[in-house]
Amino acid sequence: MAVQNYANMLRDFVEERSTGFAIAVAAGVGLVTLRIWLAGGVCRSRVRLDGKTVLITGANTGIGKETALDLARRGARVIIACRDMSKADTAAEDIRQKSRNRNVVVKKLNLASLQSVRQLAKDIEENEKRLDILINNAGIMMCPKWTTEDGFEMQFGVNHLGHFLLTNCLMDLLKKSAPSRIVNVSSLAHEQGKIHFDDINLDRDYTPLKSYQQSKLANILFTRELAVQLKGTGVTTYCLHPGVIRTELWRHKMPTSTLLKNIISLPFIVFMKTPWEGAQTTIHCAVEESLANDSGLYYSDCAPKKPAPQAQDDQAAKRLWELSSSMVGL
Ligand SMILES: NC(=O)c1ccc[n+]([C@@H]2O[C@H](COP(=O)([O-])OP(=O)(O)OC[C@H]3O[C@@H](n4cnc5c(N)ncnc54)[C@H](OP(=O)(O)O)[C@@H]3O)[C@@H](O)[C@H]2O)c1
Ligand SMILES: *[C@@H]1O[C@H](CO)[C@@H](O)[C@H](O)[C@H]1NC(C)=O
Ligand SMILES: *[C@@H]1O[C@H](CO)[C@@H](O)[C@H](O)[C@H]1NC(C)=O
Repeated sequence: MAVQNYANMLRDFVEERSTGFAIAVAAGVGLVTLRIWLAGGVCRSRVRLDGKTVLITGANTGIGKETALDLARRGARVIIACRDMSKADTAAEDIRQKSRNRNVVVKKLNLASLQSVRQLAKDIEENEKRLDILINNAGIMMCPKWTTEDGFEMQFGVNHLGHFLLTNCLMDLLKKSAPSRIVNVSSLAHEQGKIHFDDINLDRDYTPLKSYQQSKLANILFTRELAVQLKGTGVTTYCLHPGVIRTELWRHKMPTSTLLKNIISLPFIVFMKTPWEGAQTTIHCAVEESLANDSGLYYSDCAPKKPAPQAQDDQAAKRLWELSSSMVGL
């Protein structure tokens, strides 16, 4: 009886407010559709990576950690290269437990130090039998004007120069392990980017955004030039925009007050990708079998995409390669 009464009450309640309910339902469906669309592509490949070795930079948090977990689940030996060893150890243990793969190792890498990059590369060259996939994922976004150990502007230094040196130092091992892949996590931010050849460290006019855009454009130009240089070696290259994702990347743009931070974060929770969603395009570029013969392209939502015109400028790519080589002493 009580149930009957309750049902009637509910029906009356809804009937009296039918327009309101229709609007609420439509808004709900709209929001869910929008959220699914925002989630973007998913990597569908089920390929296993038993016996293969993957190195991924900055995998203690964010999309790097999600990528490492996925590749560990596929059976790969996963090396996570991070600057903070205690954060990295915690992440590695979490990845081992979730993936049930004990073959997850931590190596020290500070991309803001050329010496640290050389040291890691030497360790890998000497102690690893192979390297099948290199994922240049670590990144820093819109920090104040900081400099690296070697005096380079921080975002260009970490996002571009550190990875440039690392990639070059690991090239022999990658070639020996061919078919192998290099994947670079770039960003949509490259679209407003420009390479400031006459002021590469932005000493004259630094803004955090300009620097981030320049560093992410550099990632794409290098993928193109690298694809040319590696033609016929069996090493293929990929770069990508992962989406707009709720990770620690936003740390330099967040207010320090916790209350303010929570208020600002609210819409982000609904409209930004989760780290799992954000890792899908990286995973797709790293493992999808149908991409084996593609090289030098740019991807977004697990599909190729044309980057901005300035990211297709092969002359700028060559010039940047030469400048970077001289900056890191190659
Ligand atoms: N999140 C987005 O919306 C978005 C959009 C477009 C592109 N991306 C790109 O996606 C990549 C991953 O970002 P995320 O969102 O996962 O950010 P995140 O959560 O901040 O992770 C970045 C990782 O990079 C590491 N890192 C920073 N500086 C380093 C250095 N000097 N040496 C070694 N490691 C360093 C961080 O280590 P610590 O924890 O020790 O700082 C962390 O592990 C970046 O390349 C970023 O540009 C992200
Ligand atoms: C990745 O980016 C780094 C730095 O910009 C560059 O040196 C490297 O060649 C790039 N590799 C690929 C595959 O894009
Ligand atoms: C890639 O090229 C090789 C050699 O030409 C060929 O055997 C292979 O089927 C190709 N793979 C894909 C996925 O296109």
